[in-house]
Amino acid sequence: MKILIAGCGYLGTALGIELARAGHTVWGLRRKADKPPAPIHALTVDLLQPQLLKKIPDPLDIACFMLSPQDHDEAAYRSTYQDALMNLLDCLKKRRPLKRFIFVSSTSVYGQQNGEWVNENSETHPEHFSGQIMLRSEELVFESGLASTVLRLGGIYGPGRSTLLEHVRSGKAVLRGGPPVYVNRIHRDDAVGILTHVLKLKNPKPVYLGVDHDPAELNTVLTWLADKLNVTLAQSAASDPHSRTRQSNKRCMNALILQSGYTFKHPTFREGYAQT
Ligand SMILES: NC(=O)c1ccc[n+]([C@@H]2O[C@H](COP(=O)([O-])OP(=O)(O)OC[C@H]3O[C@@H](n4cnc5c(N)ncnc54)[C@H](OP(=O)(O)O)[C@@H]3O)[C@@H](O)[C@H]2O)c1
Repeated sequence: MKILIAGCGYLGTALGIELARAGHTVWGLRRKADKPPAPIHALTVDLLQPQLLKKIPDPLDIACFMLSPQDHDEAAYRSTYQDALMNLLDCLKKRRPLKRFIFVSSTSVYGQQNGEWVNENSETHPEHFSGQIMLRSEELVFESGLASTVLRLGGIYGPGRSTLLEHVRSGKAVLRGGPPVYVNRIHRDDAVGILTHVLKLKNPKPVYLGVDHDPAELNTVLTWLADKLNVTLAQSAASDPHSRTRQSNKRCMNALILQSGYTFKHPTFREGYAQT
């Protein structure tokens, strides 16, 4: 198949390599000229500049959207997840129909704050702008009329991306008191595995959660890492009510992707961090 990966960064590059190795022709699109590695074909395009989109090869079978904003503010989120997304959707709608458009979303679309279990059918009322904008992006994707699937990923970790582990190693991580705060995560290789798996499904569902089996308490993850790294963690009285994790605190279920036949390489953070 001819596959476009729009936003060929950490996840996109790993996905592109996997798909190209499986025999597909893959274009990796990003703004900077530092090329994604072969066998991905580099495509230097800013999706915010509609006139540049004519560089995107035609026809395509699959397009995946996985851009990330440069800054963590509302304007950056809007330009990435609405303007750039709309430009790509408008371009693709005028062409031969895709077999599938994949939009990589996030578990930030859930607004639950008390550790509730959520699945693909749970209510989505995010309070933070990031979740609200991501939710609107999902709507834009489905409104486009393209055959689409949305994958809501938890926090991605893996080789070269182990912020939490480094936080513990450096002794900066702190165990917080107060009600439990849960974290939903996915190893990069499972995010790639799920995306390639979904591309092979005959009739994929519109939405899947991409998280591992264990939406563990943050303190549990920190304690496990500290034990492995032989680090003693400091303890603080209560969690910061203004921190981002307090705004969204839910436990995401992966039953739907499991039912579709996907088997995790790293079922929990324990297996994942052991190899990171
Ligand atoms: N990271 C996480 O923990 C996490 C959690 C949940 C969901 N996700 C989702 O997973 C996806 C992939 O995340 P990631 O961590 O792989 O992101 P990443 O490494 O930051 O890659 C994003 C890519 O988007 C490109 N990009 C940004 N703006 C662009 C534009 N206007 N035109 C063209 N390319 C542009 C960037 O390259 P240039 O700067 O060269 O353009 C970069 O290569 C994203 O959709 C993100 O929302 C991530």
